[in-house]
Amino acid sequence: SPSDPDLVARARAAKEKLGDKVFVLGHHYQRDEVIQFADVTGDSFKLAKDAAARPEAEYIVFCGVHFMAESADILTSDDQKVVLPDLAAGCSMADMATAEQVAECWDVLTEAGIAEQVVPVSYMNSSADIKAFTGKHGGTICTSSNAQRALEWAFEQGEKILFLPDQHLGRNTAVRDLGLSLEDCVLYNPHKPNGGLTAEQLRDAKMILWRGHCSVHGRFSLESVEDVRARIPGVNVLVHPECRHEVVAAADYVGSTEYIIKALEAAPAGSKWAIGTELNLVRRLANRFAPEGKEIVFLDKTVCFCSTMNRIDLPHLVWTLESLAEGKLVNRIEVDQETEAFAKLALERMLALP
Ligand code: 13P
Ligand code: SF4
Repeated sequence: SPSDPDLVARARAAKEKLGDKVFVLGHHYQRDEVIQFADVTGDSFKLAKDAAARPEAEYIVFCGVHFMAESADILTSDDQKVVLPDLAAGCSMADMATAEQVAECWDVLTEAGIAEQVVPVSYMNSSADIKAFTGKHGGTICTSSNAQRALEWAFEQGEKILFLPDQHLGRNTAVRDLGLSLEDCVLYNPHKPNGGLTAEQLRDAKMILWRGHCSVHGRFSLESVEDVRARIPGVNVLVHPECRHEVVAAADYVGSTEYIIKALEAAPAGSKWAIGTELNLVRRLANRFAPEGKEIVFLDKTVCFCSTMNRIDLPHLVWTLESLAEGKLVNRIEVDQETEAFAKLALERMLALP
């Protein structure tokens, strides 16, 4: 069983044996049984910075999903090894934009005569290939905690943005934070010829949104917001910007996972909160803040865990740490050099945003 005391003891022993040679990063959506062994926890922005700040660690064990481990590999030195405890921990959103599809999209923009006006902005939740494409074409990466600054920066570089791969984060940030209208945004569907758009639509658009979404956050609905308001009078609705536009528009507060945690830390006793983000984090926050008299509920009972985040469990972590402690390198995530060079350019532009 995941809470098996034997496994807990084995993880602890292997980690102790490795000492400073290993640094364990845990994304906020990870299971409790894994989070207890993380040296740092954070959202994807904080973890990218934390990985880069540990040059003495030979192994970076990334408890998160594949694109996060790739980013850590890009930002750390060549002799540091980034390890993902289960190679099947991918991200369905990142998989929605492949290198071939994005290259084809760039051809469509070129055909429409607008490619030179377009600056790509890619969400952290994308493969290293997409990050490299972004770097090559003068763009930046963003996360949910710096998307506004990334878009503002991009609009200083060019007239239009191609936002990949999360349509919701792109639309929500453009409309809520930059004051663009919904009509300024068009949706590029990689499964349709020319993205399902005419050259005129592309020329008129300010934001070209890739048709991708998060399979967890995309399931919260306007109805779930209305239901919780009816059920819990005075409730504050706080959601992640990967939620659909109508959900974000109906919420009281919107922000990344770090923002959500800080908002709840600052919340007064007696306040009530409905949170629209991944369930592992919401449960942990509900337990943490209950003794302070803060009532925290999950926004919609039909939405569940991120299944790929949940693939990293205690048995996988134990296997990883014990293998490393025996000198056996397993599940290394390594981005090839050319991809890394361009992806790094895009990531460094993000880290340099004001
Ligand atoms: P943040 O950690 O940046 O809030 O992103 C949420 C997410 O979906 C990560 O997969
Ligand atoms: Fe991907 Fe959504 Fe899971 Fe994050 S929560 S890893 S965006 S599927």
